[in-house]
Amino acid sequence: MKKRNKIILVACIAVATVALICFLAVYFVFLHRYHGKEIEAPWQAEDPFSLSNIATLEKQPGQPFVILNLADVQLCDLEDLFHMGETRQKIAGLIEKTHPDLITLTGDQTWSNENLISLLSLVSWLDSFQIPYAPVFGNHDFGNDKNSAVLDCAACCDVYEKGKFSLFKRGPSNLGSLGNYVVNVTEEGKIVKTLYFLDSGYEDCITDAQIAWVQWNANGIRAANGGTYAEAACFFHLPLPEYAEAYRQYRTGEGNVSAVGEVYVTYSLAGSSQNGFFAAAKSVGVSDMVCGHQHGNLFTLQYDGVRLTFALKTGKLGGYYAGEDVTLDGATCLILDGGKTTVFPVFSDP
Ligand SMILES: [Fe+2]
Repeated sequence: MKKRNKIILVACIAVATVALICFLAVYFVFLHRYHGKEIEAPWQAEDPFSLSNIATLEKQPGQPFVILNLADVQLCDLEDLFHMGETRQKIAGLIEKTHPDLITLTGDQTWSNENLISLLSLVSWLDSFQIPYAPVFGNHDFGNDKNSAVLDCAACCDVYEKGKFSLFKRGPSNLGSLGNYVVNVTEEGKIVKTLYFLDSGYEDCITDAQIAWVQWNANGIRAANGGTYAEAACFFHLPLPEYAEAYRQYRTGEGNVSAVGEVYVTYSLAGSSQNGFFAAAKSVGVSDMVCGHQHGNLFTLQYDGVRLTFALKTGKLGGYYAGEDVTLDGATCLILDGGKTTVFPVFSDP
């Protein structure tokens, strides 16, 4: 073979190899669909309760226990690949500012269908802080349409469960959604706070089965806690109808609603359509609820014995609804100290 032909052949092989590698990369990162482990683990109200199945974090006596909540981080492999660094920098700044004992994430950590790189890198990056973290799913975590993303719901569960400092644990398989779990905060062996992490689904509602499962946990914890319900907080993505009602009463002066800090509502308060969870949760010791979903809304309203917090959106990715200017960016802090919990937003540096 002539030297010229050899060069052409090598060049063709090189181009074909690069093209194949590019095709495989695009295929496996953006086009392939990864399905996680399907685990049949149904729950029934008659099941025996065991406190040992619940993760526990220890609060140091006399020291505050700081929870830093990140909301709607909204990473996307395609659109945000070159902006993730800015969001990470902001989160690192918030962590530096608050020194959390626990980081919670109230859903939509990723959005759109391209969630493979986003989620894998988020989990390994969060692990690097060596701080426990507890995510819930929003309506975009596994795609803009239900389970349309590269990683489906079960695959996202697999990724979160592998996180070294992740407390995520998929819940029973018959609750209507998978991302349901509980964490207890203890101080000198006593439960001082129970944290319920609930999966509000893809534009669905917290189901009757989830409500019954929360009550079952609360009753089990009460039995282990000297017969009284532990003070509890719930973290979920979609706001309950009570958020809209609390805001309406706050605006009109009806009822007995009071605001803790500033109130920003820049978009509709529509969210979950379900009813019944609020009353059920309140009856088993829940005194704080934290949701995300509607970027640009931020408030903590004391309503009917429960503090309803619209968590501050974290970072500017994913945009704001209704063309609102991005003016609210940061996280929400919950501090347990001296038997009390305080809630306030922490704004990112511009
Ligand atoms: Fe959302």
